[in-house]
Amino acid sequence: MARQALLLERAPDPQAVPAADAAQRAHAWEEQRDLAHRCRACPLFAHATQTVWGEGPIDAPLMLVGEQPGDQEDLQGRPFVGPAGRLLDRALAELGWDRSVAYVTNAVKHFKWVPAPRGKRRMHKTPAQREADACEPWLEREIALVRPQALVALGATASRQLLKRPVAVLRERGRWIERPDGLPVLVTLHPSALLRLRDDEQEVAYAAWLDDLRLAGRHATAGR
Ligand code: URA
Repeated sequence: MARQALLLERAPDPQAVPAADAAQRAHAWEEQRDLAHRCRACPLFAHATQTVWGEGPIDAPLMLVGEQPGDQEDLQGRPFVGPAGRLLDRALAELGWDRSVAYVTNAVKHFKWVPAPRGKRRMHKTPAQREADACEPWLEREIALVRPQALVALGATASRQLLKRPVAVLRERGRWIERPDGLPVLVTLHPSALLRLRDDEQEVAYAAWLDDLRLAGRHATAGR
């Protein structure tokens, strides 16, 4: 409970960003979002329902970056609303945050999928490096407009796109790593990786994941 109170006290303060500046950035953010909806920079748009842009306050102190939208995200046009998003919501709630503390987005804005061998299910396929690179300008524009204090890379694709190098998530997780532009990035597991673990492994892995997120929240909101 004490921990929850601490984090809630430090929830982002809308006054921390000058109104005109925040309004200008919000306007620019909408323009970028609309442009991204027409993106044809890689072939992924052809089989996706829509571009899934990031979501959250323009002055969020923390930006959480996933890999790419999943099936539910592709249909609803919003990031992290499927099973991985529900685990993320549970973690944020346990930390005393709600989604408004963080801006949530993905390294790749279109759902890459292959048909399941049987049935109509669409199965997630990891984006190729060239597809992630085609999306890089959108992610970098989101970072430039939201100006978070810190970034959380959920999984290998986000880590590589944010740090501009391959990242061994299990080896590098849980500590701050500086980007070329000086922004701190905390690497951690993708929630989908936790969901794939056996029940007995999941509990320990989930607790360690919460510790990573807690560390990120502390840093991003320090001094607010
Ligand atoms: N996985 C992601 O990386 N992002 C989402 O938005 C959903 C699932």
